[in-house]
Amino acid sequence: MDHFTYRHRVLHCEEVSVADLAERFGTPLYVYSRATLLHHLRQLQEAFAAVRPLICYSIKSNSNLHIVRLMVEHGTGCDVTSGGELYRALKAGCPAEKIVFAGVGKTDAEIRTALDRDVALFNVESEGELLAIADLARAAGRVARVALRVNPDLPPKTHVKTDTSVKGVKFGLDIETVVEFAQRLVGHPHVQVVGLHMHLGSPILSVEPYRQGIEKGLILIDKLRAQGHRIDVWNMGGGFGIHYRKQEALPASAFAAVIVPGIQASGCRLILEPGRFIVGNAGILVSRVIYTKDSGGKHFVIQDAAMTDLVRPTLYDSFHRIWPVAPPADVPAPPSDYEADLPGTIRSDVVGPVCESGDFLAKDRALPPVVRGDLLATFSAGAYGMAMASNYNGRPRAAEVLVAGRDAILIRRRETFEDLVRPEVEV
Ligand code: LLP
Repeated sequence: MDHFTYRHRVLHCEEVSVADLAERFGTPLYVYSRATLLHHLRQLQEAFAAVRPLICYSIKSNSNLHIVRLMVEHGTGCDVTSGGELYRALKAGCPAEKIVFAGVGKTDAEIRTALDRDVALFNVESEGELLAIADLARAAGRVARVALRVNPDLPPKTHVKTDTSVKGVKFGLDIETVVEFAQRLVGHPHVQVVGLHMHLGSPILSVEPYRQGIEKGLILIDKLRAQGHRIDVWNMGGGFGIHYRKQEALPASAFAAVIVPGIQASGCRLILEPGRFIVGNAGILVSRVIYTKDSGGKHFVIQDAAMTDLVRPTLYDSFHRIWPVAPPADVPAPPSDYEADLPGTIRSDVVGPVCESGDFLAKDRALPPVVRGDLLATFSAGAYGMAMASNYNGRPRAAEVLVAGRDAILIRRRETFEDLVRPEVEV
């Protein structure tokens, strides 16, 4: 469920016309729906209520301070992956005791800050990292609470670039050797192993990986406890998929049905690190058609959003629904099956202005005919859209707007050319 609907043939976000927003704030423009964000958060909170989880919003998916603050105000903690994200989480008002620090390459400076702020948990991914945390905790006179991030070695489940629990990726400690590794940490004066962490990949559209992860985790927790570790936290990461193409995603309750009994059996407190599930369908990218052209037997729609605004199609061949903000009368509704050639549509490549053949938002897509000046909406762009944006080709990053009912507030202004050169030392 989301709050992007067509009314009188114009796309609305909640009560606000997206065409009006584009006039007011310009394009490319990210538009988020507050009601949709909170709806998805509530779905998770309700589905997992039986085990009273700590939901740590994964701020890498969308780190705008207003969105992080909204999450924190509604009870979440934060999953951070860097000093920069830790800074954001704290700035948005997230209490340190609700922050978990993940990431395969934490630097000494980042670890020091996290120790100093006393974050809830370090998700530890290597022996080297463990040694660094132990050293820095000793120097600071602290005890670091860590969860061992385990790579449970499951079958492939997502795009190869976002699968984190197959053998051979850089993430986590190998499940075969983690017990041996943990043995050396028993009774450590500055590192306390309090939990297990697994992030299986993203986006995941089946409960099976979670079922397998839970199975392996339960065995592991028994072994770690037998060694004398107090394992009372189980962090299952994020990864819950969303609707990109049609209604392909599972509800939160389906994941909960598999995860909750496992957590209850373990006696652990559940931590979740969802990002995409909360923010993915809560955001769209609005762009304006600059030109259309036919060449090489193809029809191109050249619009002002690019791989610099939304890199997912370029990087992962991801599918995002695209439809005009004000479609023509004879093709009013976006299709439910995007593979189909709908009457009145033209197979189009939707591309941006960047000088790369890989700069596209969609290829060979059935789209109503559009002309210069028309607006397009790229849906399900709230997660890993703006968060992965860049300034390549001298492109200022887009503005972001948060809609709540009839109100729309600018939560990030469009960058200026001056913004782009400011960090460079004057010539
Ligand atoms: N926890 C950890 C340790 C993670 O690495 C991630 C995502 C999450 C939580 C949040 O996963 P989510 O609930 O959002 O699926 N840029 C890619 C996705 C990369 C995911 C990275 N890690 C994309 O656009 O599909």
